[in-house]
Amino acid sequence: MKIFITGIAGFLGSNIADKMIDMGHEVVGIDNFLGGYKDNLPKNITFYEDDLRNLDNLANYMKGCDIVFHTACTAYEGLSVFSPSLVVENTVQISVNAMTASIQAGVKRFVHCSSMARYGTQDVTPFTEDMTPKPQDPYGIAKYAAELLLRNLSEVHGVELVVAVPHNIIGPRQKYDDPFRNVASIMINLMLQNRQPIIYGDGTQTRCFSDINDDIDCLVKLAFTKGINGEVFNIGPDEEEVTINELCNEIANLLRFNVNPVYMPGRPQEVKHATCSADKIRKKLGYETKTSLRDSLQSIIDYVKKRGPREFNYHLPIELKTDQLPATWKDRLF
Ligand SMILES: NC(=O)c1ccc[n+]([C@@H]2O[C@H](COP(=O)([O-])OP(=O)(O)OC[C@H]3O[C@@H](n4cnc5c(N)ncnc54)[C@H](O)[C@@H]3O)[C@@H](O)[C@H]2O)c1
Repeated sequence: MKIFITGIAGFLGSNIADKMIDMGHEVVGIDNFLGGYKDNLPKNITFYEDDLRNLDNLANYMKGCDIVFHTACTAYEGLSVFSPSLVVENTVQISVNAMTASIQAGVKRFVHCSSMARYGTQDVTPFTEDMTPKPQDPYGIAKYAAELLLRNLSEVHGVELVVAVPHNIIGPRQKYDDPFRNVASIMINLMLQNRQPIIYGDGTQTRCFSDINDDIDCLVKLAFTKGINGEVFNIGPDEEEVTINELCNEIANLLRFNVNPVYMPGRPQEVKHATCSADKIRKKLGYETKTSLRDSLQSIIDYVKKRGPREFNYHLPIELKTDQLPATWKDRLF
């Protein structure tokens, strides 16, 4: 089949592309390098360096494609309260554009990468797919708004829609010099520069991290499994829940780094306990956690060591420089 991947230079997009190529599919992709890395791009693909905010050529690029895998986004939850315009445009508008072009090009299925931010704060954890989303920051609200818009267009125009809800997927290729996102990679990049990690709040917030190798098969199955039109799937584990303090200590242990984290005030609207249930994906698509957090962190350490630790690149505009803006970003502390 011919698969079109948006955000193909990104972490998930490039891994999905590799897997699709391994399976013998033809891959076409687009990215504007707002995130991602150029060396993430797989060989043997047709690549368009273009911006999804521009609808003009999209349907042409997608010509003959059977499936669109939409991973492109500015997936910056914490930043989204300070740069809402940037995040909303690159979440809602580009999703609508990608879907519009897919319909114009006669694509059969559109797989949309949403986010666990769609759930927001719920009364109970882990979050299950049947819960009513209560997103609580512009990123989560935009992700859910995009989902509603895509669902509407899918129903009217008959293209199948499947919604993936990845949560805290980690691994090599994830940006580690981006000060706005990817906590594990940021900590590794800092410690490899002999600098202390920074933790927002008291570090007792809990998360469940999952290794890309454990998730990739399920992600790809969303493109091909029959009878799942309109469904939502959490992608990731619900087993090894850790606090940010524990994550930090695990990385420090692996690096034999004498850690003494710098604690900063918590970020506005950050969800304290965020874990998703993997029951549905386990039952329907055979998800299984195989990689321990420790092994997954080691693979990121190896990757950052190989490419070399890097200075942080403050590459995105901050639209609202209010008192609430974390000092890490205001004073460029990373
Ligand atoms: N990695 C995770 O754990 C995780 C968790 C929740 C949700 N997600 C979702 O999965 C998707 C992929 O996440 P990721 O971690 O791979 O992010 P990423 O930042 O590594 O990749 C996103 C890619 O999209 C590209 N992009 C952004 N705006 C674009 C535009 N206007 N035109 C063209 N390209 C554009 C970026 O350049 C980047 O390469 C996102 O939708 C994200 O919200 C990921």
